[in-house]
Amino acid sequence: MALKVPGARRSAPANIIDALRLSREASPGLFWLVVVALPAAEGLISLALLAVFRGGADAFLRNQSAPGETVDRIIPWLAVAIALTLLVVLMGNSRHTVQELLLDRVRQFSARRMHRAVAMLELADFDDSQVHDRISRAEATADFKPRQVVRGITALIASGFQIVVFTAMLVFLQPLLLPMLALAAAPVLLISSKLAGEQFGFFHSVTPLERRRRYVGWLMTSRQPAAEVRAFGLMPHFAKRYDALTDERYTELRRMVHGQWRKLLAGQVSFGLVLTAAVALLGWFFASGRMDVPTLLTTVVALSRLVTAVGGLGGPIAELSEAGLFLGDQAAFYEQLKRADELERGQALPERLRELHVRDLSFRYPGAEREALSGVNMTIGAGQLVAFVGPNGSGKTTLAKILAFLYRPGAGTVTWNGQDIADLDRRALRDHVTAVFQDHMTYHFTVEENVSLGDVARADDHAAVAEAIDAAGAADMVARLPAGAATELGPEFGDGTSLSGGESQRLALARAIFRGRELVILDEPTSALDPVADHALLRDLRELLHGRTAIVISHRFSNVRHADQIYVLDGGRIVEQGSHESLMLARGLYAEMYSLQANAFAEEPA
Ligand SMILES: Nc1ncnc2c1ncn2[C@@H]1O[C@H](COP(=O)(O)OP(=O)(O)O)[C@@H](O)[C@H]1O
Ligand SMILES: [Mg+2]
Repeated sequence: MALKVPGARRSAPANIIDALRLSREASPGLFWLVVVALPAAEGLISLALLAVFRGGADAFLRNQSAPGETVDRIIPWLAVAIALTLLVVLMGNSRHTVQELLLDRVRQFSARRMHRAVAMLELADFDDSQVHDRISRAEATADFKPRQVVRGITALIASGFQIVVFTAMLVFLQPLLLPMLALAAAPVLLISSKLAGEQFGFFHSVTPLERRRRYVGWLMTSRQPAAEVRAFGLMPHFAKRYDALTDERYTELRRMVHGQWRKLLAGQVSFGLVLTAAVALLGWFFASGRMDVPTLLTTVVALSRLVTAVGGLGGPIAELSEAGLFLGDQAAFYEQLKRADELERGQALPERLRELHVRDLSFRYPGAEREALSGVNMTIGAGQLVAFVGPNGSGKTTLAKILAFLYRPGAGTVTWNGQDIADLDRRALRDHVTAVFQDHMTYHFTVEENVSLGDVARADDHAAVAEAIDAAGAADMVARLPAGAATELGPEFGDGTSLSGGESQRLALARAIFRGRELVILDEPTSALDPVADHALLRDLRELLHGRTAIVISHRFSNVRHADQIYVLDGGRIVEQGSHESLMLARGLYAEMYSLQANAFAEEPA
């Protein structure tokens, strides 16, 4: 999948609108409360407070000769001012609460979009580091950007209302001040939106670095690598590596913020200069008798509030346009995958398997130099038991994953009952397959759930789960666990238990058995089992399969000698094929490897 770098050159307003739209979709009710209702109330209260201030000043100045009367006149104004101030506090509190709730909704919305996007990724995409960069950015966006959006919206709206209110007042008091203020504000706002683009560009460029740093952090903090990291004394080495990656990021960051500091300073200086001129103008108005004291006081207050509000726009504009860029990036990721996904919809559904046919199949992993498979041909009839054998890296797993419809063939075709799988619905195809992969999963849930995840729709069928556990030879093991099938796995959570490699493999096998589809793929399903269990399981395989079609990969040749057809792979090609007997007679690679294994056991002293 080719992923384009999104346009960091989109305009700030477009990004801001994106951010706003996202939060409205996340929760319309909370959004309108935050964007309209609460700020409108706050704006009106501010206006009322100013009117009260002016009324109070009038009352105070009207007759200075009788101090007692002055106090009497001022008290009602003061009482109203106190009541209004309390209301402002109440509004602030409510806004804070609603903001927290909206934040959570936006976060969930963004995370959902991210999850919908990654659900559409193909397995091969996970071999592409650019896709991982993309996922990482989408994840970070879902995690951190919502706070920025919500904080930005509230600040923007609060400032916006203040600006409307105090601009209206200044139009009335002294309109000359407005163009001056606009002149002062323009550079600050322009700079703010420019900085957002830089911030995004920075994050974009350090994503690969950041992922590597997180990986090294994971090595130091997680359970899986803990044993080896300690046994080999790797902690100081990894800590140093982590530091080096952090320093690299810091160098980049420093370069960016130095530039930003200079730009911001330039904007602020010009803002200050214009403002000084405005104050001088006011002074001149007053000195030349064009303005009385109450008007002057009110104008100064209105002007200072307006200046604060306009200055306060810089932050939210930067935050929102930055968040908008991130969200736009995330949305583009989602849209791109959705388009690819839609192309697949409406494809034919596969019928019950009669024959799986592979013709001239080649496959190369993204970015790999050589082909993992080339010129592969085979026909697997329904009900057959087929084995793939061959040395490490010969392509067995790759072929198995293509036949599980996880990788698309590079060249050549795979047909299902004669129909090219490219024309069939891939998800529906996967629904015909059950598998144990070499890198099988142990989920940190209960043992029961580890099995029932094989077919979530039948998760409540406890008897079937127990049967699958039994068929996988895991019944004794499960019975020994502290809470049987209800035992939680994974010591990282609660009092989760840990299983041995062989035990988890049996559980993976039970999961595949519980799933029970018509095409069974077993990629070294017994590699972690002890030799007795390994032999017993594969000896009884036919019984376990109940006549299903199966592909088995095993390194122990004695295990697969009863297969209907054995394919010997080497270097991505099928070098031999046939039954055990015919392959032995042919005296090729298979016969050689088989004899080698047989002799190795025979030569052991008793
Ligand atoms: N995800 C991957 N990305 C790139 N190359 C891979 C990947 N998985 C396997 N390969 C390469 O493809 C070749 C075949 O691997 P695989 O099918 O796993 O072999 P086998 O299962 O026979 O041991 C090997 O050379 C291996 O290095
Ligand atoms: Mg393999």
